[in-house]
Amino acid sequence: MTSRLRISSINEKLLNQSVTLNGWVRTRRGSKGISFIQLYDGSNQNGIQAVADEVLENYEEISKLTTGTSVSIIGKVVESPAKGQAFEIHAEEVRVIGASSGDLYPLQKKGHTLEFLREIAHLRPRTNTLGAVFRLRNTLSWAIHSFFQERDFLYVQTPIITANDAEGAGEMFHVTALDLENLPRNPEGKVDYSKDFFGTDVSLTVSGQLGAEVFALAFTDVYTFGPTFRAENSNTSRHLAEFWMIEPEMAFTDLQGMLVLTEEFLKYVIGVCLERHEEELEFLQKMYEPKLLETLHHIHQTQFETLTYTEAIDILQKSGESFEFPVKWGIDLQSEHERFLTEKHVKKPLNLIDYPAEIKAFYMKQNADGKTVAAMDVLFPRLGEIVGGSQREDSLETLSRKMKEHGLLGETYDWYLDLRRFGSVPHSGFGLGFERLVQFVSGMKNIRDVIPFPRVPGNANF
Ligand code: 4AD
Ligand code: MG
Repeated sequence: MTSRLRISSINEKLLNQSVTLNGWVRTRRGSKGISFIQLYDGSNQNGIQAVADEVLENYEEISKLTTGTSVSIIGKVVESPAKGQAFEIHAEEVRVIGASSGDLYPLQKKGHTLEFLREIAHLRPRTNTLGAVFRLRNTLSWAIHSFFQERDFLYVQTPIITANDAEGAGEMFHVTALDLENLPRNPEGKVDYSKDFFGTDVSLTVSGQLGAEVFALAFTDVYTFGPTFRAENSNTSRHLAEFWMIEPEMAFTDLQGMLVLTEEFLKYVIGVCLERHEEELEFLQKMYEPKLLETLHHIHQTQFETLTYTEAIDILQKSGESFEFPVKWGIDLQSEHERFLTEKHVKKPLNLIDYPAEIKAFYMKQNADGKTVAAMDVLFPRLGEIVGGSQREDSLETLSRKMKEHGLLGETYDWYLDLRRFGSVPHSGFGLGFERLVQFVSGMKNIRDVIPFPRVPGNANF
């Protein structure tokens, strides 16, 4: 193949020049000896129109081009008379690379439901919708690295196979090389993991946090960006069994310091999308979320609100709303409560801090009241929780006691206590669910539509 110019790089400097574009036919329509081919190559939202005249020697073939056919088009860049596009291509040559058997191609011109598209997850990246979503996803991932790299954070890759349950919720996928049909047993009849590959029972990680803390106490500011796994049976529009998490961890930083960074971070990555993806966002707004741009601009400009958990419970109790799950101090907030607080009460992003110790993980710093911990959840409209984090318990005594209470002592966790034995410092960190961020920015209702191949209860296809 000769040159590989991408459609997104066509600009006025190329006017009247001949270029070669490779891509797939989205649609072809004809009128009086002319074919209009809408070509796309994934580099922009709208693709580009190529106009082919019947003088072309293979016009017969061109006039029968079907959706999904891959082609190489050589032609001149001209200003387009059509509305909504600056340029088009006057084709000098249209060569078919791979035919697409017309009627059998599942992606026809008419719109398809997102549910149907999930069943053809190997073809759905070629649609307008998934195209927009995955260009946003790409930019968000770049913006995340860029934000932290600009601020001298070290990117650290924590392991995926681990013996520790960082969140203590017991929702882990076991990893084993044992023969499941013929398991070795110890004298008590339990599975003998000393015979397994790692000599112990291991799982897929639910969070890279504990490893990130190790690195924060050596490099001060670090972040992870990697896959995490949860075997929770939550069949909702916001949960995946395999998702990506960004986990910054900062030494010499308390909860207040982290609140400032979190807000700056979320505004930064949303700002980059607003700057670079007008076409994608306008498309998604038209199709799926009528107030998408307004909400994103609002969040980018507004100052986040902060409330304590105790204040939030009070507000919920006095709200006069009838919630499915009754509200009293000590409950884990449900999505209906979170959405009421952020959408109806403060009407902007909300940092909820100082949760009851009982409903949060063992590593969170105990507050002076003895009942609450220095936790932070960031709640977004339409979504509820997008970020969860905390200041970490840095007192050896308090942490040892809490770990004992949670049954987390022994070799698996002793190294974690060493961080408090040797040069302990106040430190804080959070986890941002990457797909929840993509979901929010793209306005998609279901998290399954913002990850290439969703893993959810009962489904690991593709
Ligand atoms: O609140 P979580 O469980 O916090 C942690 O794992 C901490 N160790 C993070 C830290 O402090 N370093 O998860 C963090 C975020 C949630 O706020 C949510 O956005 C996302 O991860 N998340 C999920 N996203 C998709 N599917 C799931 N099943 C998710 N569970 C959590
Ligand atoms: Mg959480």
